Amino acid sequence: MRIAFFDSGIGGLTVLHQAKKLMPQEDYLYYADTDHVPYGSKTKEEIRRYVEEAVDFIAAQDVKALVVACNTATSVAIQSLRARYSFPILGMEPAVKPAVKNIAVSKRVLVTATPVTLREQKLHDLLLQVDQNHKTDLLPLPKLVELAEQGCFDDGQAANYLREATKDFELQQYCTVVLGCTHFNYFKDSFRQILGDTVTLLDGSSGTVNNLHRVLAEKNLLEQNSGTIRYYTSGREAEELRPKYDLLLNRLEKMLNY
Ligand code: DGL
Repeated sequence: MRIAFFDSGIGGLTVLHQAKKLMPQEDYLYYADTDHVPYGSKTKEEIRRYVEEAVDFIAAQDVKALVVACNTATSVAIQSLRARYSFPILGMEPAVKPAVKNIAVSKRVLVTATPVTLREQKLHDLLLQVDQNHKTDLLPLPKLVELAEQGCFDDGQAANYLREATKDFELQQYCTVVLGCTHFNYFKDSFRQILGDTVTLLDGSSGTVNNLHRVLAEKNLLEQNSGTIRYYTSGREAEELRPKYDLLLNRLEKMLNY
């Protein structure tokens, strides 16, 4: 059986990339809701409807677990998904907990994500729990999702956008920037360019992937298969996307050094 990964677009590949490193012999299914990307500027109701449609399709395939590899979809739909399906469903959340836990003296944490993720109660509940000393600031970066979907990685647009978006922030006060949207992981080099070498870039992929491994082990669902990935977009098989997605997985390999 396969492990399914779901995102509005190419963002979730960044989490699948980590999963493949930890569990190379599992078979995977990757579903990108390309008809409806980006989610981050839509209403909660719209996002919930799109996610449920997608997961109904995924549930009809041969899957043993689902990773909602999208912070935005997780923040609005994870509870209703868990109520609806019996297989294990893991979500993403901005890595605020480890960021605040390891904060340097007199420094702050900058949490970046889509506007929906930053607005949703789920994040504010988390902040109430882990950030009692108010050490975090929030910054929406929706354009990075568009740039990633358009494949604009190396033309300077992302760095220009980040420079503009952070111009009112005193960047020296941050020791950590949380990448709270899976699409942002493609731009670690641009973040570095703007933030310098000393800032930690933290995303939630390894936390989610470690949880996935633990849950599969507990339920005796780990398998030694051939490590294949099957691709789908918005309810259609999408084998033609394989070359493009292979290139993206290569880029992610490089981003590990940032
Ligand atoms: N990749 C998604 C996330 O982690 C959402 C991007 C979008 O569709 O706006 O939030």
